[in-house]
Amino acid sequence: MKGLVLSGGKGSRLYPITYTNAKQLVPVANKPVLFRVIEAIRDAGITDIGVVIGDTGPQIKEAVGDGSRWGVKITYIQQEAPLGLAHAVKISRDYLGDERFVMFLGDNVIEGGIVPLIRQFAESDWNCQIVLTEVEEPQHYGVAELDEAGRIVRLIEKPKDPPSNLALVGIYMFDHHVFEAVENIKPSWRGELEITDAIQWLIDAGYRVYPYIHRGWWIDTGKPIDMLEANNRVLEELEPRNEGYISPDSEVKGRVVIERDAQIINSVIRGPAIIGEETRVINAYVGPYTSIYHHCLIERCEIEHCIVLEHSRIVDVPIRIEDSLIGRNVEITRSQTKPRAYKMTLGDNSKVGLL
Ligand code: G1P
Repeated sequence: MKGLVLSGGKGSRLYPITYTNAKQLVPVANKPVLFRVIEAIRDAGITDIGVVIGDTGPQIKEAVGDGSRWGVKITYIQQEAPLGLAHAVKISRDYLGDERFVMFLGDNVIEGGIVPLIRQFAESDWNCQIVLTEVEEPQHYGVAELDEAGRIVRLIEKPKDPPSNLALVGIYMFDHHVFEAVENIKPSWRGELEITDAIQWLIDAGYRVYPYIHRGWWIDTGKPIDMLEANNRVLEELEPRNEGYISPDSEVKGRVVIERDAQIINSVIRGPAIIGEETRVINAYVGPYTSIYHHCLIERCEIEHCIVLEHSRIVDVPIRIEDSLIGRNVEITRSQTKPRAYKMTLGDNSKVGLL
């Protein structure tokens, strides 16, 4: 089997973080979501992986490289415009050939990897398998209607009136018949060739399409709140370790990872949390569900339930920072000059909640 990872898209719901960075490269527990996807595919025994890229292609290529770091071979496939998931399949035809493949959206994070799903599909003669999971707001996803025997009756993309709470997870398995489907569907109201329509086409044409019901958690990291939620879930599964320095007057409790050459000086860290390479935490409190990426400075402040990206500095903030997604090279400090005032340089679509 081959892997196909979709890593195009603008990530507009994550602006301003994704103005300068591909959304799939935003880290969850200090590892880009896309790296987690590649590892999940590799762990399922697949080493030939195509990555579909769009405008952010150069950043993705730089971060991922040829895949040798994971022991896989990456082939890049350029998508000229974001014309839909089924369009991405269409342009990957030469790469995929007649092999069965798993398609994985590069911004999806799933509990437990994909080993069980791949095994079931690889051992079957099915033409397609989709992954479904129960969600609270199915109208934001592709939704499946099943019959009493658990067979798929119908799939609908983002229905106003969902027939069930079973959403299509961004992981799909296909054989080459999907190319017939993508040639035969028309763009949807949002101008995209929908993979949901392609799968419905396979069902209508009599091909064997089966569902796999995923019982663990799954997060499509579209919005900042989803990034924080994915971060919570992944942090809960971390194995604690310390590759940095913790001063004797510091207190580190719970599931905490201190990455290489990080320093914790006279500070309290309550897990689950991760402190990135060469980051310094000085006279500070880092509370549960916080990921601080590499080369940051957290000094004389309190932070909890946050993701902080690389090279940011948070110093002398009098009130605890919570529930925040903080970008790269950000500075949050207290100004010493009079008159006392907030002084900010914020990107478009930034959100700041002041007291
Ligand atoms: C896409 C699919 C949708 C699926 C979702 C999962 O939606 O079209 O069926 O449920 O991914 O992440 P999109 O992210 O393009 O809105």
